[in-house]
Amino acid sequence: MNKEAIIRLRGVTKSFKDLRAVDALDLDIHRGEYTALLGPNGAGKTTLVEMMEGIQTPDSGEILLFGKSWKEAERELRQRIGLSLQETRFIDKLTVLETMKVFGSFLGVSRERILETLASMNLEDKEKTFVVNLSGGQRQRLALGVALMSKPEILLLDEPTTGLDPHARREIWTILEQLKSRGTTLILTTHYMEEAQHLCERIIVLDHGKIIAQGQLTDLLSDGGGEMVVFKSARSPSAQVLQKLRGVLRVELSDGGGRLIVSNMLQVLPKFIALMKKLRIAVHDVECRKMTLDDIFISLTGRHLTE
Ligand SMILES: Nc1ncnc2c1ncn2[C@@H]1O[C@H](COP(=O)(O)OP(=O)(O)O)[C@@H](O)[C@H]1O
Ligand SMILES: [Mg+2]
Repeated sequence: MNKEAIIRLRGVTKSFKDLRAVDALDLDIHRGEYTALLGPNGAGKTTLVEMMEGIQTPDSGEILLFGKSWKEAERELRQRIGLSLQETRFIDKLTVLETMKVFGSFLGVSRERILETLASMNLEDKEKTFVVNLSGGQRQRLALGVALMSKPEILLLDEPTTGLDPHARREIWTILEQLKSRGTTLILTTHYMEEAQHLCERIIVLDHGKIIAQGQLTDLLSDGGGEMVVFKSARSPSAQVLQKLRGVLRVELSDGGGRLIVSNMLQVLPKFIALMKKLRIAVHDVECRKMTLDDIFISLTGRHLTE
């Protein structure tokens, strides 16, 4: 992979009154990478991508795309990036084809390319449909078509599948997976860990305007074990005792239960059960599983991603 950073952020900060939506953020995005900005509502995802898109201006810090700032190269950058906003407002009284033409005229996109894009969004039979009559999934695919018709090098999508049913979500994922082979660079925001895990090899977890974890998906998930034993019990055993069990890397206790971060759940489980028996603590429920991004988020913040 070419390791040139095609988006570079340094010390980027944006506040709304006394609320820091994005807090002194540094970030490098590399060509060809698929990156997810994952975080709960209010984490600062939209503010961050909209600054990269030249829609919002940072209070301080520097943002460069292809080594250029929005101020010096707005025209060029508009041609080279494609974006879809968290809520795309289309004109309901235009058809799908008319909508594509309106946006295409700004970017000098040919009719041929518009038709080709509609086909790759599986919208060719919807050309004459009024936008108001599209389903949620079709609307999102139209938004994606608008973003993609100029063949942008960088694609920035703000929650492309929020509110869609699983089938419609899969359709969007398939389109994005196909694009990958063409070298497109993708940044998407989401609060669905499955979406981040499915599409992106690089994950950036945001909370309160700061990056609280980032890395390659596989590294993040294997960090500190990668597997866990989650249990509910009549009362909590002492963390120190649990920590002494062989194979337990970290113990996180909560009311009436806890989580053991381990590298081999099947090795730890029988020892854990035996220990609880010895301690005379009734175990109501126990589950062994691979760690997810949500588990990592809970470890870092004590909250779920979608709370
Ligand atoms: N225009 C605005 N005026 C005031 N507060 C805002 C504005 N835009 C965003 N915020 C606040 O900034 C924080 C980050 O918002 P946002 O970037 O939309 O987060 P996310 O996209 O992760 O849900 C939130 O607390 C939000 O309420
Ligand atoms: Mg948002």
